[in-house]
Amino acid sequence: MGRHLLSIADLDDRTLHSVLATAVEMHDVQRREVKKIPTLRGRTVINLFFEDSTRTRSSFEIAGKWMSADTINITGKGSSASKGESLRDTVRTISAMGVDAIVMRHAASGAAHQVARWFDEGSVPASVVNAGDGMHEHPTQALLDAYTLQRRFGDLTGRRVAIVGDVTHSRVFRSNVLCLPRLGAEVTVVAPPTLLPSGAAQWAAADGFAISHDLDEVIDSGVDALMMLRVQRERMSGGFFPTPREYTVGYGLTRDRLAALTAASPEAVICHPGPMNRGLEIAAEAADAASSLVLEQVSAGVAVRMSVLYHLLASDVTDDGATKGSAA
Ligand code: CP
Repeated sequence: MGRHLLSIADLDDRTLHSVLATAVEMHDVQRREVKKIPTLRGRTVINLFFEDSTRTRSSFEIAGKWMSADTINITGKGSSASKGESLRDTVRTISAMGVDAIVMRHAASGAAHQVARWFDEGSVPASVVNAGDGMHEHPTQALLDAYTLQRRFGDLTGRRVAIVGDVTHSRVFRSNVLCLPRLGAEVTVVAPPTLLPSGAAQWAAADGFAISHDLDEVIDSGVDALMMLRVQRERMSGGFFPTPREYTVGYGLTRDRLAALTAASPEAVICHPGPMNRGLEIAAEAADAASSLVLEQVSAGVAVRMSVLYHLLASDVTDDGATKGSAA
């Protein structure tokens, strides 16, 4: 792996498969009585979160701690960013303390890329992990989604995955369509026209996924996994759908659609990156169904993030054979 993980596109095929394979080994740590391995002893990982998070932040913290790294959490609200400090000054300050990696979530698309550029230009020997940048990418979410589906199905070749909902605002969608087709999955994106980004058709052709506006048709035609996306009302400035009720009628995984899914594809599973809007994009019956992998996704998140930190920090050699700086 290179020095940073900013996008799924940063991973060549060999590294993508290696991250997923190492996550299997890391998952074993979770089942031990003493959840501690020495892999990152002496390393310092800062979780720098300018947006709220439950799953990503805590799983990166747990991942680091189980690997014996020193992990520290900094949030926008509790840091000097709330006093007007710029992002550049904040990350320069943190990096001056000699940290090995910054795991960063930010509302601005491209923020993690910008920090990585500053580090590279300034020869700061620290890794940057994108833990979600605006509407752009959330690579470790896509990795944990792929890992969860592989645990259920094995090889994903030919598995049909429908990604449903608020595509426009979803960094989870953007990372997943870069990841799942490369693992052989047949991806269909299902959304109302108002919640598809412009240029989606060309994008679909380039990245190898299909587009549909009819969730019932997709369910009836058979799927192996339905990945429901959160409706991101905090990022919506206009009227993307008439009412929440109409959104649910058109694109929610309702009780009736759960029954249709089970009838058409008895082995199909339900995923959701969380946090869920129960009653809007997913009914409680679907979120809590036996076929729901939501909590398995959360569990996988720790293993996958351990694997990512391992690949970034526990190897001295980059993909092209060059030696990394002292951070790695
Ligand atoms: N899926 C996800 O990123 O969840 P959090 O916002 O809780 O981290």
